[in-house]
Amino acid sequence: MKILVTGGLGFIGSHTVLELLANGHEVLIADNLSNSKIEVLDKIENISGQKPKFFQIDVTEKAPTQEIFAKEKIEGLIHFAGLKAVGESVEIPLKYYYNNLLSTINLAELCLQYGVGKFVFSSSATVYGEQPSPFREEMPLLPTTNPYGETKAMSERILTDAARVNRGFNVILLRYFNPIGAHPSGLIGEDPNGIPNNLMPYVARVASGKLPFLSIFGDDYETSDGTGVRDYIHVVDLAQGHVKAIESEKTGLNIYNLGTGQGTSVLELVNAFIAANKIDVPYKIVERRPGDIAISFADASKAKAELGWQTKLDLIDMVKSSWNFEKRQKSEVH
Ligand code: WQD
Repeated sequence: MKILVTGGLGFIGSHTVLELLANGHEVLIADNLSNSKIEVLDKIENISGQKPKFFQIDVTEKAPTQEIFAKEKIEGLIHFAGLKAVGESVEIPLKYYYNNLLSTINLAELCLQYGVGKFVFSSSATVYGEQPSPFREEMPLLPTTNPYGETKAMSERILTDAARVNRGFNVILLRYFNPIGAHPSGLIGEDPNGIPNNLMPYVARVASGKLPFLSIFGDDYETSDGTGVRDYIHVVDLAQGHVKAIESEKTGLNIYNLGTGQGTSVLELVNAFIAANKIDVPYKIVERRPGDIAISFADASKAKAELGWQTKLDLIDMVKSSWNFEKRQKSEVH
């Protein structure tokens, strides 16, 4: 299939591009480089031996996006491009709503106009809000605590409504849990600008000495050791989930959780990192982070039953590959 991947040079996008190429698909990438680097394109070529056609455009701008649809016979779209920093979304909400909603609307309209029948959307477990885990796809979407999460829920609704009335416009919403890890080559991984917000990149930078210690946000949750529990998923497994989704023959609207179905606490993750990589990660327990929930993990059975997808990599693979990637990053504290 000829597949357009928006945000294809980002963390999850680049891993997905590699899995698509490995499965014989032709890939085009659209990315505005706002939170990714052009060098990732060369790394994709180094690893795969193929260089996808690249368009440096912003998919919130309809005209340049339309040019791609007009020129290329795209058969499927995977839409990753978007802003994703939870804290920043609280500070500059309009930017988040503008970017994340306009891109989804533009791309859906262009798919309808040019007869692109498959739209895979990058959603998040955050749409479940504060409900008891395991999260199942049929649970209601609850308000999230930040505009970023709202843009994911709203994009889901926009695509759901569009799929309902347009036969042949087949939408798959993929709700990711907590993607970590990196490609086994160590060439691509998660490399956020500035001080990381998410746990794994923060841990990796503490281990490499770029940051002095990890703050663990609360040890008084109702969990086995008091720290927050999440469903960490290896980005390579997650990427393979997208291949299964875009190749699926399912019609209409379909929703899948992409997670392992296993909860891991912050302390368990940090201790696994220390043990597997034989490196110290100093930490301090601090106050809870506002907006965090105690426990989030998936019921991952629907993706297994309907897409034939399940995770293959475990926590050790995740912490080892994250460290393998971090060690190769020469950058100092940003
Ligand atoms: C994981 C656990 C923290 C950092 C968020 C978004 C979600 C998705 C992924 C992305 C929690 C704890 C973290 C630190 C810590 N969005 N933690 N010290 O909050 O589950 O999900 O990122 O693009 O929509 O909400 O992920 O990695 O930030 O936190 O103790 O320095 O680690 O409290 O329990 P989260 P996370």
